[in-house]
Amino acid sequence: MIRNRAAGFATRAIHHGYDPLDNEGALTPPVHMTSTFVFETAGAGGEMFAGDRVGHVYSRISNPTVELLEARMAALEEGEAALGFASGMGAITAVLWTFLSPGDEILVDETLYGCTFAFFHHGLARFGVTVTHVDMRDPANVKAAITEKTRVVYFETPANPNMRLVDIGAVAAIARKAGVRTVVDNTYATPVLTRPLALGADIVVHSATKYLGGHGDLVAGIAVGSGADMQAVRLVGLKDMTGAVMAPLTAHLVLRGLKTLELRMERHCASARAVAEQLEAHPAVATVHYPGLASFPQHNLAVRQMPGFGGMIAFELAGGKEAGIAFLDGLDLVARAVSLGDAETLAQHPASMTHSTYTAEERARHGISDGLVRLSVGLESLKDISDDIADALHRLARRAA
Ligand SMILES: Cc1ncc(COP(=O)(O)O)c(C=O)c1O
Repeated sequence: MIRNRAAGFATRAIHHGYDPLDNEGALTPPVHMTSTFVFETAGAGGEMFAGDRVGHVYSRISNPTVELLEARMAALEEGEAALGFASGMGAITAVLWTFLSPGDEILVDETLYGCTFAFFHHGLARFGVTVTHVDMRDPANVKAAITEKTRVVYFETPANPNMRLVDIGAVAAIARKAGVRTVVDNTYATPVLTRPLALGADIVVHSATKYLGGHGDLVAGIAVGSGADMQAVRLVGLKDMTGAVMAPLTAHLVLRGLKTLELRMERHCASARAVAEQLEAHPAVATVHYPGLASFPQHNLAVRQMPGFGGMIAFELAGGKEAGIAFLDGLDLVARAVSLGDAETLAQHPASMTHSTYTAEERARHGISDGLVRLSVGLESLKDISDDIADALHRLARRAA
């Protein structure tokens, strides 16, 4: 058991919020597989519903295993409180349904994960919320676009799939001055590399399906923010509007994943950097988007905001979309699959897969080229990853000859 928040990241990720001696000596926290909780008396139950007594009532509202994960994530993201969800999309939708009403405006970066983009345009917009995109690589664009109707500024950094970064501190300061909440999707960077709340953001959301879980065996989401904001999301967006609640067994698996998060991110970062350099040096590759490369246009911001640079790479082949598809089909060890942040290296084609929720015209407008290939560099031996990529590029060159 650790008793203070000054403990290091890995220590918090392994111990925060749990004392084995309070739990029959069990080193690993128990999984509370229960839907409902027994009230000592009818009066006690009534008091819990009225909010006058603290305790668990029903697992769509709270559950002890999920609660432990929430406490741990709050400690890792340096927030007051956190909430678990059934998926990353559950976290994003519950947060935004809580803080947006018809007539409000949300200011959004140009590039977003495909289903987040679809939720904004096919979900929020249908219910009277105006969705305005600006290129947040320049914080001045945010300042110019905020109106008196803006309630939320929303972005991913790095953005899925093209790796564009947003200066969290600069954008959050502009939003705060205007009385607007900043919500940051921190899925790609994880709290190992970037802690948006410490830089001024109000709420962090995660697809915990990715690096937090880390093993490709679950779908989950997390939100972190102030105690008051998280209580509002719990009682409105989660309990009543989406019901996208995290299962106790999923919370257990994410807690297990968190124990090795820092260690895994070190390896993801080191291997991705080497693969990015390998790709950049290859004649068949036209462009590599990786924040750790000196050629990356926002490299200086990356050094300041996400030291380590992450495990994700996007790149474009000289032969465009057709070459990208042929490259994917030439892979052997690297799996052709969406998702990211797993032990296995994964490759996919955003235009026809994760970002096919955009029309071709929208992709062009939002900076997602048809030739882009996305790589999630895994934890296998680096030489094997590099050899597989080299072989696929070689096959591509032979095919073109
Ligand atoms: C950046 C980002 N945010 C959110 C999501 C949605 O998460 P989930 O698939 O867990 O619902 C994803 C999924 O790929 C993602 O990449």
